Amino acid sequence: MENKTIAPDYAQLVAQREHVQTLAPAAFIEEAVAELKQQLGDDKVILALSGGVDSSVTAVLLNKAIGKNLICIFVDHGLLRKNEFENVQRDYEHLGLNVIGVDAKAKFYSELAGVTDPEQKRKIIGKGFIDVFNEEAKKLNNASAALGDRIKWLGQGTIYPDILESMSADGKVVKSHHNVGGLPKEMNLKLVEPLKLLFKNEVRAIGLALGMKAHLINRHPFPGPGLGVRLLGAITPERVRILQDADDVFISALREWGLYDKVWQAGAILLPVQAVGVANGERTYENAVALRAVHSVDAMTADVVELPFEFLKKVSSDIINNVQGVNRVTYDISQKPPATIEWE
Ligand code: XMP
Repeated sequence: MENKTIAPDYAQLVAQREHVQTLAPAAFIEEAVAELKQQLGDDKVILALSGGVDSSVTAVLLNKAIGKNLICIFVDHGLLRKNEFENVQRDYEHLGLNVIGVDAKAKFYSELAGVTDPEQKRKIIGKGFIDVFNEEAKKLNNASAALGDRIKWLGQGTIYPDILESMSADGKVVKSHHNVGGLPKEMNLKLVEPLKLLFKNEVRAIGLALGMKAHLINRHPFPGPGLGVRLLGAITPERVRILQDADDVFISALREWGLYDKVWQAGAILLPVQAVGVANGERTYENAVALRAVHSVDAMTADVVELPFEFLKKVSSDIINNVQGVNRVTYDISQKPPATIEWE
């Protein structure tokens, strides 16, 4: 039988991974910080924060290595969870990060006006995000270049499964992961990906060892296009408000009942239908919301969480009584496959 050769970059990656998996979090941090200091020297790095675990831990690790030479950009596309933009920025400030928060809500709402097709929404949100990030990056670069100190690096929260997914069966790297393709060519940035040898659970352990709060580290996954894929039909500021409020009641209740950490991912979905109801003796005709909570390991398959019925009834009445514009709540009991986790 023919001997298979392993591509050199793959062999090197595997050897690096073998070394990293022997390290306790504190030792990993010490090594990573020393390497980053050596690699980056006095260079500046920009990084897009999403509020998620991977980009946040990447930022805190880089901050430990190069401090103010790390500049983070956090974009509000208007499709974040309720108060998320403010809360996450506060968390980042406590962690000592240098964060530029960009409120781009108006741009996204105007570009999304009247769009109902899920794929088109995703494209508009993805492109809008890259536009805003590039614009901010260029502004920063011009300001730095004026001081003779151009930005040279892009930080990314790539993790080991992202790298493995980017390889072909013979171990060759076949595509680079993430949204590198959207970067302005003229900036010519090099990539720095300090978590690229770690699995998610290891990233979480590193985050905790770096002093990050458990609530930041143990957050449920949240899609890049945010509530954009949970708002079925047209996206308007008023419909975003309704969904944010309903989602907030659900997620806060999961926390209060001690259920949040027992669920892999959860959220509310605003349906594109209205339903008849009755309130104070008057007929109402308002929006219907679906709740989704799943168990999963890798998002490839997912199972509905059997949340206590008492809990679901309480959340339903809290949403209907407190969120203006909703008079009906349903619980999604579909499994993936054949359903997906998100509705769009
Ligand atoms: P589905 O709906 O495909 O979702 O079962 C699987 C996981 O991926 C997340 N998801 C996304 N994440 N951009 C993202 O960054 C997207 O367009 C997107 N669509 C789905 C979803 O939240 C779940 O964790």
